[in-house]
Amino acid sequence: MTLRLAIFGFGVVGQGLARMLQRKGAQLASCGIDLRLVAVADSKGVWVDEGGIAPQDAIEKKRKEGTVAMERVRPERVVADVPCDVVVDTTPTNIEDGEPGMSIMLSAFESGKHVVTSNKGPLALRFHALSERAEECGVHLMYEASVGGAMPIFSLVRCSLAPAHITSIEGIFNGTCNYILTRMRETGYSYADILNEARELGIAEADPTYDVEGIDAACKVAILANALFGMDVCYRDVSTTGISQITPEAIHLAAAGDFSIKLIGKVSPTELKVAPMLVPTEHPLNVGGTLNVASIVTDIAGTITVMGRGAGAVETASALLSDIVWIHRSVSP
Ligand code: HSE
Repeated sequence: MTLRLAIFGFGVVGQGLARMLQRKGAQLASCGIDLRLVAVADSKGVWVDEGGIAPQDAIEKKRKEGTVAMERVRPERVVADVPCDVVVDTTPTNIEDGEPGMSIMLSAFESGKHVVTSNKGPLALRFHALSERAEECGVHLMYEASVGGAMPIFSLVRCSLAPAHITSIEGIFNGTCNYILTRMRETGYSYADILNEARELGIAEADPTYDVEGIDAACKVAILANALFGMDVCYRDVSTTGISQITPEAIHLAAAGDFSIKLIGKVSPTELKVAPMLVPTEHPLNVGGTLNVASIVTDIAGTITVMGRGAGAVETASALLSDIVWIHRSVSP
């Protein structure tokens, strides 16, 4: 069967997904996973074509005209009318009210569409309201791309760790901070000196304060707590300390004792925390650069540690596509 997709949000991540559809379309089709892009929307409007939009045409239009809009409308107003099976929400994260992602998702559910998202805002604010509404409407809400980019966590727990009980998770959930701390250790420079380097990598949030003050990691801790521990929390419930007060001297002292300073997120039914912590150099959580890592502690499978690229257009698109493939499989007769 053909799964019709609409991408809402056509910035770095949305275009990354379009490129991925272009690159992987034939490979997936040969496995019976037929995907058709029928709509693309950005903040200026929407382009809908039930016959299919070639991903490269959407990317080209965006490049030339600054928008994909054929019709100038507020995208969240047209979600219900778009003839698709899956709405992919790649609109920017907004942690004040979750918009426009929140309205896009709710409207998708109400009109019987599955949602795949990389957008942390709505999930870090109102995870339960959203997942309950999806369930009431009989559709899937999938969010692998929202935590850890290409690094699988939710699918790993849902599939391979299905019989296990997860007791806690800890890890590095912000690539920008990890990059800054790694480079501080390598160069002896201050966090402010490295911040611009990190911004040039294109993985920092639009406002990098969210990265360095630990808010982005707190959003991910909240999403993990809600999704894997059945909690009902928002990112403000996470005890959060960022890395802006970490000095080159502190990094140097830690290194002399064979430790690294890492921004660690901890998730368990009794603790929701993001803070800089000392990690022994040989510890599995001591990963460098922009990498993310998560140690998932279980009752019967011991501790499973996964590591991978937590941000970037291709990596995030990889996670979005993985969720899309899962939906295709789950709805195929
Ligand atoms: N700013 C985030 C990071 C992007 O650096 O990890 C991925 O959520």
